[in-house]
Amino acid sequence: MTNKIVLTGIKPTGMPHFGNYIGALKPMIESAKTQKTIMFIADLHALNTIYDPKTVREHTYQAAAIMMALGIDLNNTLMFRQSDVEQIYQLNTLLMNVTPKGLMNRAHSYKAAMDKNIANGVDVDAGVNMGLYTYPILMSADILLYGADIVPVGADQKQHVEFARDIAGHFNAIYGETFKMPEPVIGKESGLIPGLDGRKMSKSYDNTIPLMAPENELKKKIMRIITDSKTPEESKNPDESTIFQLYKHFATEPEIAEFADMFRRGGMGYGTAKTILFDKINGAIKDARTEYERLMENKHEIDAVLNHGAQQAKQIAERTMQRVKKAMLG
Ligand code: ADP
Ligand code: TRP
Repeated sequence: MTNKIVLTGIKPTGMPHFGNYIGALKPMIESAKTQKTIMFIADLHALNTIYDPKTVREHTYQAAAIMMALGIDLNNTLMFRQSDVEQIYQLNTLLMNVTPKGLMNRAHSYKAAMDKNIANGVDVDAGVNMGLYTYPILMSADILLYGADIVPVGADQKQHVEFARDIAGHFNAIYGETFKMPEPVIGKESGLIPGLDGRKMSKSYDNTIPLMAPENELKKKIMRIITDSKTPEESKNPDESTIFQLYKHFATEPEIAEFADMFRRGGMGYGTAKTILFDKINGAIKDARTEYERLMENKHEIDAVLNHGAQQAKQIAERTMQRVKKAMLG
């Protein structure tokens, strides 16, 4: 265990899928076994798109229950709801003053929204609220409030961590050394897991396999993985198969080698391969799914963990805010 603080946020926008699990959640759980981890459910980040409080709440419980069911080590991990720590709103407001507007103009997510509007021939800022525009400031506040050293993120979020470094740098240059410089770390599988149609698994492509789907739904989804039209007899290339790409993450080395061989040898139809994949994934996730379902029926247990986490997070946050307020307001 090092003294470095690993920090990450999970945006509660719906049931995570197997891409999220392999690319983000599983590495987080591994890392939390040996590193001090701060992990919050970033409900404030969901507010620029979700306007229904019940949905935000339910998705927040889902995300927390999933991490608990997957066995996140709560001895090393502070897990809480972002919105429960009021210092986040304070730091967000204060950081506005040292954040150049031009930095926000360059944010990938804002640029993507503008590009879409331009392509549709509407006003460039149509449908863009300030929550979207200033999203990177709130994310910087998350990172700087808790003094994170390492921020594991997907490739799409790397720019936000770089913005946090920029903002910390501006602040430190004006007010003296106040914030640590966080380092982004991109997971090696991040963004690489294919979905049902072979493209990157993503909510935006509607090609996902939900992580905690009931067994029959999981099976149906797996059976819908799109394959080429090779007959059972024909030899197949495992590296080009979504079935194999998913299987790899749940099997042992000898099992992977054997499955690859069955692809190459010929004689195995895709239906059989999908059944083998289903059994493997279902076996790996079954106990966590039962625990997830139990927790969702016993939300007071999730609240207990989140409230305890928030109490501790507030203490760290308050120490930072005292320094920041002193630096800025004297
Ligand atoms: P989506 O594309 O479904 O909206 P998110 O952008 O919310 O997913 O993903 C959150 C994190 O999960 C990403 O930052 C990335 O690390 C991981 N992730 C998402 N999709 C995949 C994928 N297909 N393969 C591997 N990791 C993924
Ligand atoms: N913006 C991240 C996402 O969309 C979630 C997030 C919020 C986060 N605050 C963070 C990630 C701080 C890392 C650090 O996935």
